[in-house]
Amino acid sequence: MNGFGSAPGKIILSGEHSVVYKKPAIAAAIDLRCEVTSKKISNGIEIDALDLGLKKNYSFDDIKQLKQNPDQIHGIDSLAILADLIVPGESLSLKIHSQIPISAGLGSSAATAVSVAASISDLFSLDLSLEQISNFAYQSEVFIHGKPSGIDNSIATWGGLIVYENSHITRKTLNHTMPLIIANTQVERSTAKLVQGVSNLRNKYTFINPLIDIFGELTNNVITSIDKGDMNKLGELFNINQGLLDAINVGHRKLSEFIWIARDAGAIGAKLTGAGGGGCMIALARNDKHAEEIANKLEDQGARVYITSLSSKGVQVGK
Ligand code: PMV
Repeated sequence: MNGFGSAPGKIILSGEHSVVYKKPAIAAAIDLRCEVTSKKISNGIEIDALDLGLKKNYSFDDIKQLKQNPDQIHGIDSLAILADLIVPGESLSLKIHSQIPISAGLGSSAATAVSVAASISDLFSLDLSLEQISNFAYQSEVFIHGKPSGIDNSIATWGGLIVYENSHITRKTLNHTMPLIIANTQVERSTAKLVQGVSNLRNKYTFINPLIDIFGELTNNVITSIDKGDMNKLGELFNINQGLLDAINVGHRKLSEFIWIARDAGAIGAKLTGAGGGGCMIALARNDKHAEEIANKLEDQGARVYITSLSSKGVQVGK
């Protein structure tokens, strides 16, 4: 018998980085998903990340060693630790298939961790609750990101549109269309390093804290504009947000280039999404046809564009 779990990637509409300092953030699930199939085997933990061409076997001694030396944990290692955390001492294999690009700010690592927890819950009939799945995924994220806010594992678990503030989740409904384009610069970056960079700035300059407060206020305005369906205001706030994200040094030349291509093509607003420093940007179009026009212009300039819709579906446990 196999176990199965899947979970969505995400975009952050507002509040990346400041969410680490307990300010509100708003995130939406997208229809790119990760799928994990699990199976009981005889010895240790085997992980096969099919899209990355990565396959690794871990003995329980290897896992113990990694836990004692967290600085040696890389990439999929955290998933072996996660499996052993959920079902200690159980041998199993995990086959991962993901549509979510890695290191791009679309929440691929959290979606994978959530899918692993869901798949194991299915395989061992654990009947884990959404909170338990999300919490297990969070623990795995700590190994990779150091100080994650918890927004990524939350949106991958609950799906839809959520406001996340200080570990508290509020689900929102979207009652109008929001034509968004996601463009990937394909510049890989490390969330942990970018989060550390902001922390260093905060230690160096006293004015970074008030700036983080402003991100919080801006996000509250974003939430109101989404509630009211005021897309013009939402676009304007995207642009202000981008300026502030550049100010805390999480921008990238390629992101700015794509953001300006979108704006020149008439986007109401555009900003980076996720940790920045490369990865993805989002642009708000007037309608679906306009979104396609913007997407074409971005593709002409070498962007990898995802025409995805926001997804109400969160984690899936079992087929
Ligand atoms: O997973 P990413 O790279 O999209 O970044 C997540 C958002 C951050 O606020 C930068 C980090 C966090 O833990 O919330």
